[in-house]
Amino acid sequence: MTQTSSDGGSSKLWGGRFSGETDALVDQFNASIDFDRRLYREDIAGSIAHATMLARQGVIPEADRDAIVAGLQQIEAEIDAGAFVFRLDREDIHLNIEAVLIERIGDAGRRLHTGRSRNDQVATDTRLFVRAACDETAGLLRLLRRALIDLAEREAGTVIPGYTHLQRAQPILLAHHLLAYEAMFTRDTERFVQARARANVLPLGAGALAGVTYPIDREFVAKQLGFEAISTNSLDAVSDRDFIVDYHSAAALTAVHLSRLAEEVILWTSAEFGFARMDDRYSTGSSIMPQKKNPDVAELARGKSARVIGNLVQALTMLKGQPLAYNKDNQEDKESLFDSVDTILITLRVVTAMMPTMTFDAARGRTAAIANFALATDVADYLAKKGVPFREAHEAVGSLVARCEREGRTFEDLTLEDYRQAHAAFDADVLAIDLEASLAARDVPGGTAPNRVAEAREAARARLATEA
Ligand code: ARG
Repeated sequence: MTQTSSDGGSSKLWGGRFSGETDALVDQFNASIDFDRRLYREDIAGSIAHATMLARQGVIPEADRDAIVAGLQQIEAEIDAGAFVFRLDREDIHLNIEAVLIERIGDAGRRLHTGRSRNDQVATDTRLFVRAACDETAGLLRLLRRALIDLAEREAGTVIPGYTHLQRAQPILLAHHLLAYEAMFTRDTERFVQARARANVLPLGAGALAGVTYPIDREFVAKQLGFEAISTNSLDAVSDRDFIVDYHSAAALTAVHLSRLAEEVILWTSAEFGFARMDDRYSTGSSIMPQKKNPDVAELARGKSARVIGNLVQALTMLKGQPLAYNKDNQEDKESLFDSVDTILITLRVVTAMMPTMTFDAARGRTAAIANFALATDVADYLAKKGVPFREAHEAVGSLVARCEREGRTFEDLTLEDYRQAHAAFDADVLAIDLEASLAARDVPGGTAPNRVAEAREAARARLATEA
């Protein structure tokens, strides 16, 4: 039973100055318990640290602290077990827990909120949540990176065309392509590590907005909760949601990278490209077309980026009009945050599991890699290395391509005589330009030569080993 004021006024924990109950529709509109119950562990950890500090500072009796800690631990166990009854008229996770604590331990429970506001309380809970989410997201990114590195090793000899403008451009190693994504996910990992550091600051002690009147020890609370530092401005502490935007930004860019990788997988597994086959476990069928095998997993990985991007925009928009300090608008920070965390975590898991199950058609990759005159740059480079100015070489090889297209031939059909008609500097060794030579020639740091790719792969593996 919640406490009811003697004059028959509001039953709310904040109801002292009210003479009646809130409208039921307002209770429904105002409440966040349906989603912020997810913060119960963080809320209880914060309350235990706060009560411990209050007792140490002589603000509340030690016996009250003991009752509070035991009461909160019992509540946590009940919520864990699904045995706790949440009430909509108790608005949010903070008031639901505090009201039940007071029902059970009376005045000791009524002392918990000394020197604290829900404003610094919710900021603390959410920072704890974001900190853990950053760790989990970075951890899954590392697993994805390892899967890509392993796949690059397994497919070390596989060649595909490299593209610009989605037109075949130059041959590359599939491993080089996969490691490009590993590089993106490395930067994403760094962004979550940075987001964690910015979230890891204790707001508790800011009170409602201006600080509190008790001799609190904020450093002690920070230490209890594993925060690196304490906030330095009470107004900022209760109103800042940048740390949530940081999570959203890192998540949105990660989602975009996952979406791009998914798009490659969708292209590669199409009949048009035919470079890869998707394992049955990661494909789905059509309810009408018996022959279909669809890359739904990859398509969802692409499609889900939309909501993660949308959540970033929602968080920014929620903040932009708010004057200092706390406004209830900030209650709208949670659903989108939870949604982005859940979405990015499951997408990382499924993409990491899916990638190694793909099989690649190496023969088809090789054929495609040199089709459409993809060795033309190598032929132009050949002339340039004989002293022909590159622009002249480009022109000569361009005319050779045009001639081949007219005559329905490829470079492989050309004789030395044909080459010489395009430029006098061609010698017999031009006939040695092939796929292997093309790849091996790109022997620069960051290039697709097999030795460089193997080096880059092992450097990526070593970098990963140094992390966490
Ligand atoms: N449920 C609220 C939130 O999520 C908690 C803070 C409420 N503070 C207040 N002054 N009404 O932001």
